[in-house]
Amino acid sequence: MNLSDIIYKWFDDRLKISELLPPIVKHPAPEKVTSNPLYCLGGTAFLCFLILAGSGIFLAMYYKPTPEEAYGSVEHIMTSVPMGSLIRSIHHWTANIMIAAVMLHMIRVYFMGAYKNPRELNWVIGVLLFLVATTFGFSGYLLPWDQLAFWATKIGTGIAGSIPIMGPYISLILLGGSEITADTMTRFYAIHVLILPAVMIVLLGAHFMMVRIQGISGRL
Ligand code: HEM
Repeated sequence: MNLSDIIYKWFDDRLKISELLPPIVKHPAPEKVTSNPLYCLGGTAFLCFLILAGSGIFLAMYYKPTPEEAYGSVEHIMTSVPMGSLIRSIHHWTANIMIAAVMLHMIRVYFMGAYKNPRELNWVIGVLLFLVATTFGFSGYLLPWDQLAFWATKIGTGIAGSIPIMGPYISLILLGGSEITADTMTRFYAIHVLILPAVMIVLLGAHFMMVRIQGISGRL
């Protein structure tokens, strides 16, 4: 027995990995899925999320979420941090690709009628995932604290504020007041790096569990 076998056995004796994992992991994808690339769009969106999480953790180590320091810290990432410009670009482009993948995935689910009984609830979870993905983009847009960020946030929160009845409250919660200030930046940062990732992970867990329980749609 080599060292890795000994370590595996130590854990297996305590956690029963060899009994619990195979039914979860050994589940070959049906032929209809492997032969049709349209079924890869959800997986592509998930891969994007993983890349965004990894590159985002890197950016968070250098980014400073205050109005005085934010722009300078982004400039520092782009010009002085080793591979900073590459990783920020990866974060930026992957965010765009993820939105495109999610929309195409949604279109494929719609046109294949995969939202019908028994998958209605998973469609609803999907709509929430779509909202989370777009809010990720919106909240990230403010963080560089440049002119584009400021005015995009002004317009975005203005649109949210014009929703009947709830609008003014949503705007107040997002801005932390009536104008874009340091409080807005702290809120957007907390939403972008804490709240949305947590919500996304919970929703993805439910989404994947339902795909597994209900099986993938389409003819066998
Ligand atoms: C971050 C966003 C999302 C991720 C990572 C994701 C991931 C996935 C994956 C990996 C699958 C199984 C393979 C596939 O069909 O591609 C799937 C299936 C499904 N997704 Fe999504 N999804 C997301 C957003 C959405 C949205 C926006 C909707 C609809 C509003 C949606 C509705 C569904 C439905 C109904 C299924 C079952 C499809 C079937 O059985 O054929 N998903 N999703």
